[in-house]
Amino acid sequence: MTTCASYRLLRPLLFRLPAETSHHLIFSTLRLIYRLPGASTLTRAMFARRSASLPVSVMGLRFPNPVGLAAGLDKNAEYIRPLSDLGFGFLELGTVTPRPQPGNPKPRLFRLPQQAALINRMGFNNVGINQFLANLVRADKPCPVGINIGKNRDTPVERAVEDYHAALQAAYPHADYIAVNISSPNTAGLRNLQNEDNLEELLHTLKAEQTLLAEKHGRYVPIALKIAPDLDDGQIAAIARLVLEHKFDAVIATNTTITRTGIANDPLAHQSGGLSGRPLKSLSTEIIRRLYSHLQGNVPIIGVGGIENADDAWDKLVAGADLIQIYSVLIYTGPCVVQTIVHDLAERVQVSGLSTLAEAVAQARRRKSD
Ligand SMILES: Cc1cc2nc3c(=O)[nH]c(=O)nc-3n(C[C@H](O)[C@H](O)[C@H](O)COP(=O)(O)O)c2cc1C
Repeated sequence: MTTCASYRLLRPLLFRLPAETSHHLIFSTLRLIYRLPGASTLTRAMFARRSASLPVSVMGLRFPNPVGLAAGLDKNAEYIRPLSDLGFGFLELGTVTPRPQPGNPKPRLFRLPQQAALINRMGFNNVGINQFLANLVRADKPCPVGINIGKNRDTPVERAVEDYHAALQAAYPHADYIAVNISSPNTAGLRNLQNEDNLEELLHTLKAEQTLLAEKHGRYVPIALKIAPDLDDGQIAAIARLVLEHKFDAVIATNTTITRTGIANDPLAHQSGGLSGRPLKSLSTEIIRRLYSHLQGNVPIIGVGGIENADDAWDKLVAGADLIQIYSVLIYTGPCVVQTIVHDLAERVQVSGLSTLAEAVAQARRRKSD
């Protein structure tokens, strides 16, 4: 039986439990399995796929393939080895805040199986940057690892820059890249940091600190900005201008949406929080397309939102993404989805007759603009 088929059998049982309980059950089982010798080798043999056409260089880093894990699944850097054994090209861990915090009261995560979607209002539950880094340094890192940073709930938005500054300083020596999350809908006021004046101050402070840290540690660690899908054209243009002006290294588009398009009739639609998965797909692709029209390839884009297969990943790449990330589809399709997307992307490159994914995507973008 394939691993996808095994997950299809297990899924009805997991879905009988509250979403967060299933999550903890899966990960505690994984922790036990990984105590056994050979667990990592076996998982890698079952899941990870290599392809000569898929390695990509983005932000000055080399990625074995462009399919990454989106932030929020491994908030405390506890499962780096098992997750990388699934064949991800990179992992984004966090969001981590300077101090530990419990997040919002449960229930705070809801499944909408009809739409292959999730609504979450987790609220940055995490162990805080010190414990996070203690976990991270203990693990070996077989693929590039990004650290996604945020502000604590009880830090007023006017002082948010201090939290990002502190988290950047602590995380910098341990990260391959840093993601600055100003787009979670579950921390009051956080998204206001996307407004022009606030963003100007934030980007200026972080860029200056990055320069100092690069000198101190003798290593340049790129910084990416993670944005929401709920932005109008003017806001996208302003963000693009500031990212270019402050020479940020990438934009991650997008986080979850506060809209309820496509799920209005679902009994869970009224739950507050961010919506992810299938209903987010076209919205986030459209944001990537608009962002790319401003950035023109001068700042790379990491595309995320509703990707379920290689066709969806391809759409985001052709719209302007250089890398992609997934989260919700793992809950609905299972861990085998990583190898399926990697395999099918490699096949697309082969069919194009070109030798790398970057070339095939560039060709598709040219054809689209003709
Ligand atoms: C349960 C859950 C928790 C999340 N937590 C975070 C987080 O801590 N930080 C963050 O930047 N994004 C977080 N996200 C957003 C994802 O990283 C991603 O941007 C979003 O889910 C869209 O991708 P998807 O449709 O493939 O799930 C979370 C998403 C979910 C479903």
